[in-house]
Amino acid sequence: MKALVLAGGRGTRLRPLTHTSAKQLVPVANKPVLYYGLEAIGDAGITSVGIITGDTGHEIRQAVGDGSQFGLEVTYIPQEAPLGLAHCVLIARDFLGDEPFVMYLGDNFLVDGITGLVRSFEQGGFDAQILLTKVAEPQFYGVAELGPAGEILRLEEKPEFPNSDLAIVGVYTFSPAVHEAVRAIRPSARGELEITDAIQWLIDNDFRVYSHMVCGYWKDTGRLRDILECNRIVLEGITPDVAGTVDRMSEMTGRIIVEPGAVVENSVLRGPIVVGADAKITSSYVGPFTSIGRGCVLQNAEIEYSIVLDGSRVDGVSRIAHSLIGRNVEVSRATGVSNTHELMVGDHSKIQVRA
Ligand code: TTP
Repeated sequence: MKALVLAGGRGTRLRPLTHTSAKQLVPVANKPVLYYGLEAIGDAGITSVGIITGDTGHEIRQAVGDGSQFGLEVTYIPQEAPLGLAHCVLIARDFLGDEPFVMYLGDNFLVDGITGLVRSFEQGGFDAQILLTKVAEPQFYGVAELGPAGEILRLEEKPEFPNSDLAIVGVYTFSPAVHEAVRAIRPSARGELEITDAIQWLIDNDFRVYSHMVCGYWKDTGRLRDILECNRIVLEGITPDVAGTVDRMSEMTGRIIVEPGAVVENSVLRGPIVVGADAKITSSYVGPFTSIGRGCVLQNAEIEYSIVLDGSRVDGVSRIAHSLIGRNVEVSRATGVSNTHELMVGDHSKIQVRA
């Protein structure tokens, strides 16, 4: 069994972060989301992994290397443009050969890993296996319509009027039969070769396609609120560990990781929180479900339910919540006499201020 990890794509929903970096490398509890997927693949006993890359290929290669840090052997497969999930299977033909494989969307997160899925595929003798989960807004996902016996009747990609609330989770397993399917289908109205169309082709041509419900937690981290929610889930399970320095004026409650070299002074920290290596938190409040990146500086600041990426600075601002702050960003108090906000933000940024 091999794995095909999709780490290309456009990432339009996470602009401006994706103007400068790969969405699969956005950190969740200070670890790139892609790493959780690679670890899950390794845990399932798979070692041979192909990674599809796009414009951010250089950054993905830098972060994953030859895969040995995960016990994997990684082959990179550049995709000329984000032409769809089924296009990724098409261009990975040589790498995949005639082996069955698990296809993993690099921005997806499954708390329970994929070992159960891989085992049931190996035992079931299916041609495709998909995971389903109930979602509140099925129009944003691939959607499955099931028959009375639980059989898949129809799959549709981001339907305007969904026939069910069952979204297709971004981890699939396939037999080599899928190669015929991806060659047979044509691009959709949005110009992509859709994996839902390929699976529908398998169903229509009497291949064995099986679905089952995800038991544990799953998130597609393609949107801000999903990343924050994922961060919350991971932080809930952390093991407290204070390797940095916390002075006696500071108060800490709940699960907290303070990485080596980080300094916390005269501050209130209410976990779960992770404070990255060499960060400095002074006279600040850090509330639950917050990840502070490496080398960040928080001074006279208040922040909760947020992710701050490496090297950023928050000075004299309260209270920030439900926020994702990129790398080397500066958020500080305006010094002018009038009640103004002074901004210099990148394209496609989103700022919500309380006037
Ligand atoms: P999506 O989130 O469906 O697409 P996207 O990355 O273009 O994002 P957005 O809708 O915000 O513009 O992709 C799921 C995963 O698959 C993600 O990790 C990117 C990857 N992908 C590829 O590698 N190649 C592709 O052609 C596509 C469409 C996605």
